[in-house]
This record gives sequence, C-alpha cells and structure tokens, in this order.
Amino acid sequence: MAILKIVKYGDPILRQKSQPISEINNDVKQLAEDMLETMYFAHGVGLAAPQIGLSLQICVIDVLPEGKNKPYVFINPKIVSGENKVEQEEGCLSFPKIYEKVKRFDKVQVEYTDLKGNINTVSAEGFFAKACQHEIDHLNGKVFIDYLPDWKRKQVEKEIKRRKKSKTW
Ligand code: NI
Repeated sequence: MAILKIVKYGDPILRQKSQPISEINNDVKQLAEDMLETMYFAHGVGLAAPQIGLSLQICVIDVLPEGKNKPYVFINPKIVSGENKVEQEEGCLSFPKIYEKVKRFDKVQVEYTDLKGNINTVSAEGFFAKACQHEIDHLNGKVFIDYLPDWKRKQVEKEIKRRKKSKTW
C-alpha cells in the first residue's frame, strides 16, 4: 500500500490519452489498491491514473460518504450510453479548491473490465454517474473545466496562473 502523489493541472500528462491495459497482473492490482488508498487519503470520490502520473486506462471511484465504502475499479472503461443532462458543481483532486458547474448526463451505462479480467456493465445515476464521466474523461485527456464557457475557463486558468506564481498550486 502506498499514498501516491497527485499531479495538478498544468502537468502535460493530464492532456494525454491513456494507454489501454492489456493484462490484469499483480502490478495492476497493486496500482488499483494504491489509487484507492490515495483517493481516500485525499478525501476524493474518484481518481484516474493520469492524476498520479501514469498514462493508463484505469480509474477508481467511491461516492459513498466517508466511513462507508463501495469502491469501483474501472479498467479500459467507456460510457456506452447516457441520458438526461443536468448541471452540478464539480471539483477535481488535480484542481484544488476550484469548483465549477458542469453539465453532464445524470444517468449513464459504463462498460469496463474488472480486476478479475471480466467485462462488466454498470448503470450509474446521479453523483455516481457524474463521477464516472469525470474520471473517464481523465483517461481521454479531458478535464472538467473544458466544459465551461470560454470566458469562465479563462477566468479559472488565470486564477491557476496566479496561484502557480505565488507557489500555492
Ligand atoms: Ni478529476
């Protein structure tokens, strides 16, 4: 078990498309455990491999309140269908203290490989559905501020620049 370092926006890895995982070996299982531990430690509800500096198609999600666990590990996941777009505030462990409203599907079907190598489909709704879309976006080099209107995104980028300058990013 290990707590991994989370990279922040500005690191080019967050803009890369991750590589599919072809074999679920012990390294992948260990990585999933470490990612979950890191996510809980950071009080997050989701974490994708690029956020810990690895360009691999794996993410972890647990949207239950602290103290209750229902972890999901998605390997090579994709959104196969979605319905009913709604707007809700989001944050990201790679964007500390930045929260913005993003419009996403309220209901999605996610197809993924699990740690046993089986292909599964899960139906996600509400907050869980949002987390699935947010984390899978990370695996495709996309981040939540990409959904903001131009002026708003520029505002956020300006704030990040300011924080980088003052070494608080
Ligand atoms: Ni994120």
